[in-house]
Amino acid sequence: EPSTPSTGPLHGLRAVVSTGGTQEPLDPVRYLGNRSSGKQGIAIANALRAAGASVDLVAAHVDVPLPEDHPDTASATAEHPGLQVHRVGTALELQDVMNRFGELADVVVMTAAVADFRPATFAESKIKKSEDSDDAPVIELVRNPDILRGLVQRRQESGARRIIVGFAAETGDAATDPVEFGRAKLARKGCDLLCVNQVGTDLVFGQDSTKVTFLSADGAAERRVEGTKDDVARELTTLIAERVARTD
Ligand code: CTP
Ligand code: CA
Repeated sequence: EPSTPSTGPLHGLRAVVSTGGTQEPLDPVRYLGNRSSGKQGIAIANALRAAGASVDLVAAHVDVPLPEDHPDTASATAEHPGLQVHRVGTALELQDVMNRFGELADVVVMTAAVADFRPATFAESKIKKSEDSDDAPVIELVRNPDILRGLVQRRQESGARRIIVGFAAETGDAATDPVEFGRAKLARKGCDLLCVNQVGTDLVFGQDSTKVTFLSADGAAERRVEGTKDDVARELTTLIAERVARTD
């Protein structure tokens, strides 16, 4: 079971990983959510930790047990405070915690599925149907902030070194390859590395195997990985370690 090794290519570095899907409340019992399982972010947190980094895992809603929920890992975590879990609900909460831990961290990996929109208002009591009409309410939405993009800018201002990584699921369209959409997104976000997940009819959500392409802002060779989410996590850890070695 993972304990923080005292050696490893990322020893002495701090990493922050976000995972899961945000939930945006509508009233006390309802929310807008998404189908992100959180598996990929958890795999990455474990891989970075195994490479020697100390990891803050910021978890929105996940469908699988978090490392701290795992009896074996939980005791290992108590002895070696190498991985700490911070739970959040909404995009705004996620942004708060990511800004706090991510501004100066050596490594930031943003795998969380952030709701692009949230309900404009929160109804303090449960929304009821009308008894005397068939009217349905219209839910007004507002934009959530772009957490990754904001963090890239903060890190530039604070002089943070090394690396910030985004994730994107792309289907492409009739005229455009998913990787091409990924390249435009990488430029828009300003992160160092973007992991483009090619999603099609065989949805990756909750699945263990996946097909990704890593794109880097400095134009270094692209890398494709087809395999489990642990394989993707290992490849990302290797890319991060190479970059750390170059910037040391
Ligand atoms: N992301 C973020 N804040 C948001 C939306 C997305 O930090 N409000 C991050 C995600 O965690 C991910 C990356 O940005 O690392 C790409 O997410 P994606 O949803 O693909 O990008 P969007 O800019 O929201 O573009 P789209 O309109 O295609 O959803
Ligand atoms: Ca989005």
